Amino acid sequence: MTPTERGSLVTFEGIDGCGKTTQINLTCKLLEKCGYQVKMLREPGSTKTAERIRKIVLDRRLTVHPTTELLLYEAARAELTEAEIAPLLKRGVTVLCDRFYDSTTAYQGYGRRLDIKTVRFLHKVAVGEIVPGLTILLDVDLKTAAARRRGNPDRLELQSAAFFNRVRRGFLEIARKERRRVKVVDATQPIEDVFRDVRKYLARKFDLK
Ligand code: TMP
Repeated sequence: MTPTERGSLVTFEGIDGCGKTTQINLTCKLLEKCGYQVKMLREPGSTKTAERIRKIVLDRRLTVHPTTELLLYEAARAELTEAEIAPLLKRGVTVLCDRFYDSTTAYQGYGRRLDIKTVRFLHKVAVGEIVPGLTILLDVDLKTAAARRRGNPDRLELQSAAFFNRVRRGFLEIARKERRRVKVVDATQPIEDVFRDVRKYLARKFDLK
């Protein structure tokens, strides 16, 4: 894609502490330098309503049952898609999203063990026909990820190692099933080396100078 072609959605995925935010920021800088109009968004959140849902779903003082959790993430996603993602893509903007529906498949599907078919059906309800053009999966072992997390753990970060193991395996399974879209990057490497790998995949989609 050249900077004048239609907008494209690039999503970044991985377990908590995989280094997504750093890699999204580097990607944004690179694409902007190359002439693309870029918008960074995060899930759940990035609109007033979705940020409210984020507060509920990550609040460690609350009990949130797995099905409620699934529906809250999909509700936040429906809101963000309608309000931001769809209009931006229509305008030709490149959208970089910190998590998207693969997170729900991995966390609620594999992590919480909810029915994967139902989970995928709800993605459709939330986003319609929108599919990321490229998904970068930053894969990292649990120990490295835990060491990178900072601050007060939220409700999800408080889950067990067994839960995060299922989530990690879930992400890898998604990547195995959708090889063309989902690219796995070894995120245990130093930041520059991770970005060298991310850049390699971006170069297949974007005109990088
Ligand atoms: P973040 O910390 O990367 O912003 O993500 C918020 C938390 O929500 C993180 O622990 C992953 C979790 N999550 C899900 O469980 N399901 C989802 O669909 C999304 C988008 C995030």
